[in-house]
Amino acid sequence: MKNILITGASRGIGKYFADAYGVDNNVIGLSSKDIDFRNDSQPPVFLKDYAYDTVILNAGITNTYWKRTGYVDWETMMAVNAFNQIRFLYNLLPNIVGRIAIISSNSGSIYHIQNVRSYEFDDLGYKFSKHVLNMAGVWLSKKADVPVVILHPGSILTYSPPIEGRKYHNGATNVAKMIDLIENLTMKDTGKFVRYDKKLMEW
Ligand SMILES: NC(=O)c1ccc[n+]([C@@H]2O[C@H](COP(=O)([O-])OP(=O)(O)OC[C@H]3O[C@@H](n4cnc5c(N)ncnc54)[C@H](OP(=O)(O)O)[C@@H]3O)[C@@H](O)[C@H]2O)c1
Repeated sequence: MKNILITGASRGIGKYFADAYGVDNNVIGLSSKDIDFRNDSQPPVFLKDYAYDTVILNAGITNTYWKRTGYVDWETMMAVNAFNQIRFLYNLLPNIVGRIAIISSNSGSIYHIQNVRSYEFDDLGYKFSKHVLNMAGVWLSKKADVPVVILHPGSILTYSPPIEGRKYHNGATNVAKMIDLIENLTMKDTGKFVRYDKKLMEW
């Protein structure tokens, strides 16, 4: 039985991961009640009791939040999605023996925004934070002795209302694909930005 640590495991994509891994493994799932990444990056003491086979950095404030709150909260998105979670992961590195997956987004890819979704450029705080997360993930891959992959999970309906015109993927299906990818990572994959279906992403 492996120890699997997942941030943002209380709902959405993190819950799909927790449910799928939970069948055969010991899942330690965190929510904002365990650690609030708005102002905290220090892993709770009980996390130091484990050696982690897989860590999935998944918690995030999504772009619907920005649409409610406006640009004044760019800092909060940056803290939660990038700075404090990367600090959290860095602090936990001595306990990580297997592999690390960082759930980012195609919204963090300048190539994607310039070439694919140039019509939708309003949720800038989210895009800033995921772009910084990508760079932080590459930085972390240079520090860690285990493979670190940065993942785009695909569009999965985890909030309402749905964004008009967007096609959504099945959450359980995409998470199963990502688990297959994550569990087969080697050091050759470290620092790469990859889509749920193993396609390499442009930065
Ligand atoms: N859904 C998509 O289509 C999509 C696409 C691309 C990338 N992503 C990325 O995938 C990840 C999961 O997205 P999702 O759609 O599943 O989101 P979600 O349904 O909104 O779930 C977000 C999770 O993050 C946690 N969280 C939020 N704020 C937090 C904070 N301040 N401190 C600690 N934990 C916090 C939540 O915990 P609480 O329940 O305690 O609030 C929850 O478990 C995010 O990083 C997102 O950017 C999603």
